[in-house]
Amino acid sequence: MEHDMKEKNNTLKPYTIAIDGPTGAGKSTLAREIAKRRALTYIDTGAMYRAIGLYVLRRGIHSEDVGSIIQLLPEIELSITHKEDGQHIYLNGEDVSDEIRTPEASIYASNVSKIPEVRAFLLNAQRQLAAQGNTVMDGRDIGTVILPDAEVKIFLTASPEVRALRRHNELIAKGMQSTYEDVLEDLIWRDKNDSTRSTAPLKQAEDAVVLDTTGLDFEEAVAKADEIITSKLSGRK
Ligand code: DC
Repeated sequence: MEHDMKEKNNTLKPYTIAIDGPTGAGKSTLAREIAKRRALTYIDTGAMYRAIGLYVLRRGIHSEDVGSIIQLLPEIELSITHKEDGQHIYLNGEDVSDEIRTPEASIYASNVSKIPEVRAFLLNAQRQLAAQGNTVMDGRDIGTVILPDAEVKIFLTASPEVRALRRHNELIAKGMQSTYEDVLEDLIWRDKNDSTRSTAPLKQAEDAVVLDTTGLDFEEAVAKADEIITSKLSGRK
């Protein structure tokens, strides 16, 4: 896994902020803002599952054909870079940052993420990324599996209706076709798929702080997250 982590001039061991939560809770928007304010590197782990899902989709393999998907893994090389407009992910050298966001790629991502071999394929890469410098990483299992010793763990959530509306507005803003009802249906399906798988399901880490953004606007959510982070980091040696 290649990347271009910014040079960090810290004497302390790098610290990590883990943000987990269901689809559409606003993890990536929040994490990006935290990264900007605190000069951290932001890693969106969902993009890695999405890139694998996209590869499987392009190869015409069914997203639940576990045996064929496992055989494809050695053909897949992912890399991440950070540009002005955020994280870019490359699948075998091709920038697929936009293509991984389609609803079809989302379903593929959720299904391939259930496969233990796929999770194992990404586990070390994700840990290595976090070891490079102060990092905020979002996903489903960051606080529970990938970075169990993260200094800060936030479990970000909101009601399904609010999450669906936000996601729908995002897709429309990107010029993609979307209806609220389809987005809500897809989100409820993904919540279930991501929470009920046997390997590293979406669940709150015992030591995570829950941040429910249902009634909060973006600035309020950032302020609350900031409070949690400042308080958790205050005792750091
Ligand atoms: O965060 P996202 O919606 O881009 O993630 C896409 C899918 O990848 C999601 O449905 C579940 C899976 N995923 C995961 O299983 N573990 C992660 N750490 C991140 C994402």
